[in-house]
Amino acid sequence: MIALIAEFLTSLLLIVALALRRWRKWTVGALLVLKVAVAVVMLTYGFEFALRPLRDLALLAVAFAFPQRQKLLVVAAAAAFVLDLLLPQAIPQWTAVALFAVVGLLTVLPVRRWIAPVALVVLAGLGVAVWIPASATPTTMNMGMPAMPGMAMRSVTQLTGSPTTGPVKKITITAVQNGDRYSFNPSEIHLRQGDVLDATLVNRTPSTPVTIHWHGLDVPNAYDGVAGITQDAVKPGGSFEYRFQVNQVGTYWYHSHEDTKDEVVRGMFGLLVVEPRTGPVADVDQALSIHTWGDKLSFGDNPGVQIRPVKAGSSVRVRVVNTDSEVDSVHVTGSPWQLAAVDGNDLHEPGELTDQTVPIGGGGRADIQLTMPNHPVRVSLVGEDSPAYVLSPDGRSTVDASAPGPEVDLMHYGRPAPVSLGTNYNRDYTVDLDQGIGASGFKWTMNGGVFPDAPMLMVSEGDTVRVTFRNLSLGEHPMHLHGHEVLVLSRDGVASAGSPVWLDTVSVQPGESVTVAFKADNPGIWMDHCHNLGHAKIGMVMHLAYTDVTTPFVVGDGNNPE
Ligand code: C2O
Ligand code: CU
Repeated sequence: MIALIAEFLTSLLLIVALALRRWRKWTVGALLVLKVAVAVVMLTYGFEFALRPLRDLALLAVAFAFPQRQKLLVVAAAAAFVLDLLLPQAIPQWTAVALFAVVGLLTVLPVRRWIAPVALVVLAGLGVAVWIPASATPTTMNMGMPAMPGMAMRSVTQLTGSPTTGPVKKITITAVQNGDRYSFNPSEIHLRQGDVLDATLVNRTPSTPVTIHWHGLDVPNAYDGVAGITQDAVKPGGSFEYRFQVNQVGTYWYHSHEDTKDEVVRGMFGLLVVEPRTGPVADVDQALSIHTWGDKLSFGDNPGVQIRPVKAGSSVRVRVVNTDSEVDSVHVTGSPWQLAAVDGNDLHEPGELTDQTVPIGGGGRADIQLTMPNHPVRVSLVGEDSPAYVLSPDGRSTVDASAPGPEVDLMHYGRPAPVSLGTNYNRDYTVDLDQGIGASGFKWTMNGGVFPDAPMLMVSEGDTVRVTFRNLSLGEHPMHLHGHEVLVLSRDGVASAGSPVWLDTVSVQPGESVTVAFKADNPGIWMDHCHNLGHAKIGMVMHLAYTDVTTPFVVGDGNNPE
């Protein structure tokens, strides 16, 4: 983050320094030192990310050598800066470098004065012309693989899972609208591990197409609920049956994956808890959503303080589900506690925590476990007037929130345990998260592309896959892969040394790079997207596709997954 900001600031300062008539030696000296530092940090991301600072250093060098071409250099620096802001890294790295190379040449060569600015404009125009069409959204698009000669292809509709044997839980989930607000009825589902969920979605809204995506559950692809990829959106009056065995335990949620940005924000979601076959994990087990209704941040549907009577000595599990787009942090006052699970996955030998906070990215979950003392305990969201859930032995008394402490460091929390994944990676991908101005305004990009044109990650069934997310943008991105759990290997080069951390939604901070790995053991076409729903809406969506899977559905034409 700091390197990114330093990079923009020093580029800006460079323009100012060049523009000043008699630029002082110390300004240039300071800039030089800063730029070198930025270049070194950027080199740790990879050579291509150091191109911008290196380009600026070259610009400084030429400015020294040819002071008489100062005006031209100011224009070049400004043009490069504007391009950096407009285009995702993948493109300006090269356009801006090429642009500067030409400017350098023109500076040295005795050409006519007007040629240089004209060359600049043409080059900058070319860079924009390459990127803008790439960021335009086609009206319809099929996300399946073209059939390869001699290869047996499977359709997502055939990927319904292996025959199921567990007890069947048959339910109907009705989608309804109440004024501005949507909801699924029921809005909370409790299952036991091994249950077969047979859920029929019935759309009773007057005019809103919906689907159900089971966030975090590794369901067979046919039941993943993504409009235009695994099914058509269910029209008002229509229905769709989801049927799969639930093999995971933990805290999950379900939400519409049609026009997600609008529908989830307005309430088209529910919470889903899977208990072990052997029964509840605590005497008191409570799932709470974090959701902003209108402009009110609510915790468990309540913008204020809720009190729940809990007997001293009871074991308590509070399952926090962030259904919002931005990161929210929870903390506990009044009792030591453990972070028992993240994204539904138990942590191994989680240590005792006191004043620490747990940040939960959009779509993520955190399970808090504690033993009830004989005085109140407050689970609250960090921030002013933040809503809270108070556990109270007498059902009345509360406790004020203490000052939130440092964030729990998941790379060093709990104890290591063996994982079955192995370290032999058949595929190794890097996904750059970035930003730029596209055909229809501002875009969040993945590897220089926007949905549905962002390049796919291709895998074959059985592959072990490693993915590194590099966040080169100025926003936080909770990256959610459907149908799989990913193991966090490292964050910013720091290897995971505590409990294995398996996630379905990985929060990547600005300037951070996070490496994860997973087993490609669930064939299909799976969304891999930012769960900041506003970001997904304007481009930050790609797919993980198994090489032999096709889909009869198309994005567009009534199916708008984001
Ligand atoms: Cu929680 Cu693609 O979604
Ligand atoms: Cu994002």
